[in-house]
Amino acid sequence: MRTRPLKVALLGCGVVGSEVARIMTTHADDLTARIGAPVELAGVAVRRPDRVREGIAPELITTDATALVKRGDIDVVVEVIGGIEPARTLITTAFEYGASVVSANKALLAQDGAALHAAAEEHDEDLYYEAAVAGAIPLIRPLRESLAGDKINRVMGIVNGTTNFILDKMDSTGAGYQEALDEATALGYAEADPTADVEGFDAAAKAAILAGIAFHTRVRLDDVYREGMTEVTAADFASAKEMGCTIKLLAICERAADGGSVTARVHPAMIPLSHPLASVRGAYNAVFVESDAAGQLMFYGPGAGGSPTASAVLGDLVAVCRNRLSGSTGPGESAYAALPVSPMGDVVTRYHISLDVADKPGVLAQVATVFAEHGVSIDTVRQQGKDGEASLVVVTHRASDAALTGTVEALRKLDTVRGVASIMRVEGE
Ligand SMILES: NC(=O)c1ccc[n+]([C@@H]2O[C@H](COP(=O)([O-])OP(=O)(O)OC[C@H]3O[C@@H](n4cnc5c(N)ncnc54)[C@H](OP(=O)(O)O)[C@@H]3O)[C@@H](O)[C@H]2O)c1
Repeated sequence: MRTRPLKVALLGCGVVGSEVARIMTTHADDLTARIGAPVELAGVAVRRPDRVREGIAPELITTDATALVKRGDIDVVVEVIGGIEPARTLITTAFEYGASVVSANKALLAQDGAALHAAAEEHDEDLYYEAAVAGAIPLIRPLRESLAGDKINRVMGIVNGTTNFILDKMDSTGAGYQEALDEATALGYAEADPTADVEGFDAAAKAAILAGIAFHTRVRLDDVYREGMTEVTAADFASAKEMGCTIKLLAICERAADGGSVTARVHPAMIPLSHPLASVRGAYNAVFVESDAAGQLMFYGPGAGGSPTASAVLGDLVAVCRNRLSGSTGPGESAYAALPVSPMGDVVTRYHISLDVADKPGVLAQVATVFAEHGVSIDTVRQQGKDGEASLVVVTHRASDAALTGTVEALRKLDTVRGVASIMRVEGE
């Protein structure tokens, strides 16, 4: 065993970084045995140096992350600061100064993954980021390595714990969105500003990363269709129940049936209670992968939190250290397939549409005609009338999103349609 330790620079010592430091210290002997050399925390960059950091020697703390990365003797930089800058510059500087990088930064990887991979390759260094998608759940490595010989057709997942907690609350208690969000905030599952979670930005970043790896194609954040879950109502859950479904915020990355293109999207959707993703409760995450040879696989576990996320970071750290000792690097970006990313209009799925209509003869026929004119075939219709007004719930067969959008636009123009109460995609059947 080599005795010179591998030196690790830890950038960020917050929720995740503090746990990375703790595990590096408490599991030091095991890590040494598994890697084949000791790993040493060489420095810890933070913003507020005077905060007490339990278990970390004060002399390791610095506010000068750039100087730490440029020291020249660092083997691995662990970036757990988050955000775009200074994280991006620090990572590229790390490569220039001969270090490999482990990051948990989904926002940065989704936005600049291609450039960061190119920088890693140029300097013959590793870039690992298992913790960037679904926290502790092993997902990037299984997709990138274990399934490298298979053909992945769909990746569909619950990749945001905050929104799953809120939707699960609404489902199990009948609460409205705001009430469920307030509880999530009080329990620490939602941040003071929950926009990134509830509007689907966080899940969209993860969808871009997953689609890129699954389909060996560059998928930019802008390529991901995104719809948040703030409009989901208790009435939607009641409708879902009647159909034997629940509602989840899903990230869905799909290869088109002809294999010639891919799509990536994030939106709330009804899924049957019999689908494995329907039973993912609370703040848990799960990702359902469908491939040619393996069939259906499900990855499940805690998608966030300091200790679970640190587990994924440490796994990457061990892998990167092993590569370093053997003088090799792990797999880099694989984008050789370069498939076009289709717009949302090309996505084909089923829809649940709830309409407020006048309660008079002929309305149903009028509505059905609009669906037929746009080539959207109806599976079931349910009508409930009261005091001259009625609600009409239409569930369609599979149709393109463009056809459905055209149908809804035409429905809104009908005098007898008072409003479109909700449109929800139905997935996982
Ligand atoms: N939290 C999770 O459950 C989770 C799950 C998966 C992935 N991630 C990802 O992990 C990363 C870190 O998240 P986190 O929750 O640990 O964040 P956090 O608690 O806000 O910690 C951020 C850390 O970065 C430090 N920092 C901020 N700006 C800095 C700068 N300019 N120079 C040096 N240090 C700086 C902060 O210093 P101070 O301590 O002095 O403020 C803090 O220690 C993010 O990319 C996040 O998306 C987090």
